[in-house]
Amino acid sequence: MTSVLAAKGGKRSYLGCGLGLRPEYYETIMETRPAVDWFEIISENYMVDGGKPLHFLDRVRADYPIVMHGVSLSIGGTDPLDKDYLKRLKQLIQRIEPQWVSDHLCWTGQGGHNLHDLMPLPFNQEAVDHVVERVQQVQDYLGRQILLENTSSYVSFRQSEMTEWEFHIEIMQRADCLMLFDINNIYVSARNHGFDPLEYIRGIPAERVWQFHLAGHSDFGDYVIDTHDHPVVQPVWELYAEALKHFGSVSAMIERDDRFPPFEELLDELCQMRAITQRVMGDGIKETVT
Ligand SMILES: [Fe+2]
Repeated sequence: MTSVLAAKGGKRSYLGCGLGLRPEYYETIMETRPAVDWFEIISENYMVDGGKPLHFLDRVRADYPIVMHGVSLSIGGTDPLDKDYLKRLKQLIQRIEPQWVSDHLCWTGQGGHNLHDLMPLPFNQEAVDHVVERVQQVQDYLGRQILLENTSSYVSFRQSEMTEWEFHIEIMQRADCLMLFDINNIYVSARNHGFDPLEYIRGIPAERVWQFHLAGHSDFGDYVIDTHDHPVVQPVWELYAEALKHFGSVSAMIERDDRFPPFEELLDELCQMRAITQRVMGDGIKETVT
């Protein structure tokens, strides 16, 4: 197993087609060792001493590459970075040796209160400066680059001065960080705000994107909510194909966080992902890291 690939200055590696590791499927995964190329964990679920989740994670880690995905770094928040959180995150990194570590380009709380939601930022220079400084602090402390995910959004700010993708680019280039590109979030936000998702995809420099997320959502006609409780829809698969053409071999996974189906249904979705990947990339798929 190649480890610490996302140490600063590392190169993008291709892991193949993965799934989120969720407690609902622990037993099935341990019993059947499914043909999943890699798993993504929610970091916060394992940032404790001992317990059943960590026990399962160690066992899964023995057989599969793992990437770590956090939900409460609050890189865009105005509270000081949580040193205790970062310490526990670093301890988990040292234990799991993930391929890479990600969180979201958002804020999640204020005054010490966690909102347990991913709140949007205004896309302006003041926010760029603020986030860049905090990303640099996090990367210096962890000794590695981090990936920041684009979130879905339902409101926009009058104070925004640039597009969402220009905002991401400036932060990535100035902080020298990477991107977790959530294709479903782009579909959701494009529908909600009326921008062209292809313009977003083609606007991001390919070398900065190390991972894709795919997921289902809830469609209410006038608006779309990122609920992760349905299969991936056809327009999002089509955007996945477009993203592969632009970004090349990027490790992709499906997020499912509610209305959990039998595990076989997720494996069927994974087969769909593999078929599209094969059709678009053909011989251009880079070797899976083993
Ligand atoms: Fe996501």
